[in-house]
Amino acid sequence: MRPTILLPASIFWACVYAAPSTQSHHVLHEKRAVEPHALGWFQDRRLDARQLLPMRFGLRQQNMHRLEELLLEVSDPLSPKYNQHYTPAQIIDTFAPSDESIIAVTQWLVDSGISSDRLHLDGNKGWIHFDATAGEVEDILKTEYYIYVHSSRGEQYGCHNYSLPAHIRDHVDLIKPTVHFNPHPSLPTSLQRRAGKNLGAPSIHGGPKKATDNVPITPTLSNCDQFITPQCLRSLYSIYYKPLSAKENSFGVVAFTPQSYVPSDLDLFFKNFPSSQVGARPKTVLIDGAVVKSSPQSFALNGESDLDLEYAMSLTYPQTVTLLQTGDEVEGAGFDNWLDAVDGSFCKYKGGDDPSQDGMYPDTLPGGYKGKASCGIVAPPHVVSVSYIQDEYTVTPAFANRQCYEYGKLGMMGTTVFHSSGDNGVAGNGGVCLNSKHQPASGGTVFNPGFPVSCPYVTAVGATQINPGKTVNDPEGACEQVIYSGGGFSNIFPMPSFQESVVKTFLKSHPPPYTKGQFNNSGNARGFPDISANGANFVVAVDGKFERVYGTSASAPVVASIFTLLNDARLAVKKGPLGFVNPLIYSPMTRLLFNDITSGGNQGCGTPGFTATTGWDPVTGMGTPNFVKLLAYVLTLA
Ligand SMILES: *[C@@H]1O[C@H](CO)[C@@H](O)[C@H](O)[C@H]1NC(C)=O
Ligand SMILES: *[C@@H]1O[C@H](CO)[C@@H](O)[C@H](O)[C@H]1NC(C)=O
Repeated sequence: MRPTILLPASIFWACVYAAPSTQSHHVLHEKRAVEPHALGWFQDRRLDARQLLPMRFGLRQQNMHRLEELLLEVSDPLSPKYNQHYTPAQIIDTFAPSDESIIAVTQWLVDSGISSDRLHLDGNKGWIHFDATAGEVEDILKTEYYIYVHSSRGEQYGCHNYSLPAHIRDHVDLIKPTVHFNPHPSLPTSLQRRAGKNLGAPSIHGGPKKATDNVPITPTLSNCDQFITPQCLRSLYSIYYKPLSAKENSFGVVAFTPQSYVPSDLDLFFKNFPSSQVGARPKTVLIDGAVVKSSPQSFALNGESDLDLEYAMSLTYPQTVTLLQTGDEVEGAGFDNWLDAVDGSFCKYKGGDDPSQDGMYPDTLPGGYKGKASCGIVAPPHVVSVSYIQDEYTVTPAFANRQCYEYGKLGMMGTTVFHSSGDNGVAGNGGVCLNSKHQPASGGTVFNPGFPVSCPYVTAVGATQINPGKTVNDPEGACEQVIYSGGGFSNIFPMPSFQESVVKTFLKSHPPPYTKGQFNNSGNARGFPDISANGANFVVAVDGKFERVYGTSASAPVVASIFTLLNDARLAVKKGPLGFVNPLIYSPMTRLLFNDITSGGNQGCGTPGFTATTGWDPVTGMGTPNFVKLLAYVLTLA
């Protein structure tokens, strides 16, 4: 049952019958981030005006301009309120849209001919939803809906842009379904074998990659430059610790169907690293009708999940890892879907998910998941590792901001979200670069940052390597084998205060030899990654044999494991989980707790990319963590 819109009756009627509100002209509110034909979709015909559309109006949340300040208050180690995380109820109280916004949008819709009994407000007051014909919506939003056709992906509808009356714009973040066009480009064949077939898989999935050679895998600590194992990582990052609080602690790994882990691969891995763990499995949470296929399928479908779980479980044993398996086999899912599952406030029945970006549940497609969307079904784990990425140009600023704010809220509640920064250096998925209009273009020379790593409220993890011929005792370099560490500057998000000093220092002391047309070099844009860890030559059991695997896909679970162990030590002395760690990573107090990476680069777009150097750089961030040093430090914090 959908509740009808609930408003304090007095306010509602006072408003509806008050003198007519000042009507204003429509002003462009949002337009498409990327033209569909660049992604292989061609405009075919106007959408039938009688077609019913499930409209969702995302209301502007209150206090969003204060999110960074409130987040830093509980995340900056120097703040007197450090670690005083919010409860979910406090988050709703702080950010739910104002009654004024609800009333303004409601009244305008009623004035526009959508009677109030058709309008519904979700439980957290974030979204107004109603069904309307395309004809009605075109009239209200001064837009035109078209059907787009793709040679292999079928049809979808959307519009180029839409407008709102000036006096309504301040009350609305975004409206769906409109311009948030399906971002999934058809990928070169060589990439498709690494990715699944559904929403959430091809374009937002960054890797991992495997080596094509066929060297027998004989790992020892003396050849970590060729074979990375959990032992190599322990040695590199001083991970010497036995968990004490596994029961109270939590560690989530996100996987998007059809990616799946294979239980027998875990055992093959554990037999070697370490055998006491044979039989250990993740605790699987199935989100939106997700499935885990237990039989081997292919490297493309098993490589990512096997890699993530083998390393996360091995490095944090006996911690139980929670697998957040997201999306059914028909439709798949986007980032908003796992956020819905851990964060009820982001989630709404028939609510804010976007049919092109996100899986829509119940799934109406044949064979799809018919149950209700998974909403707030599991408490957010203290640490979450996500090895998936999409190109930032595929999302509109409004969509990107709304999702980014949710990561900020998770941070305020004490959760750390780590994301792999991408495997194509300054280029995007598939090595794609942009033209001057920020559209994908073959031969494009404009750098192509990823999302959500461009959101300042996730912790972006880049990749390093043990340089050939070197050992775990030598300084690492940026990863330059098979993949290049994703890094650069956002075209959407401004620079957060916590990284300002080091990023400005980088731009001033080591000005990259590129124009402001190639990347936002103003010193006002969010730079990434924040941190890094090894991402080359990982020994991974996949489909019954060992492969060597490369990618920031490997780096993210390693860093997430290290912070899970830091949380474990804090929980053991009755302190809270670290939550949002970027202010800690950038704090002048912690410089010496990271290994600065000062060699290598992240080529792409026909350039050598950026170069790793002393201090922060857009290749390896602040460097790799030293667990033992960080442990001593985080135990001194409140
Ligand atoms: C909005 O979209 C229409 C097509 O529906 C197009 O003709 C118009 O130029 C677009 N306006 C802007 C500002 O992009
Ligand atoms: C660079 O980023 C800042 C912050 O997001 C933005 O205000 C500015 O317009 C951007 N500059 C260019 C040339 O895009």
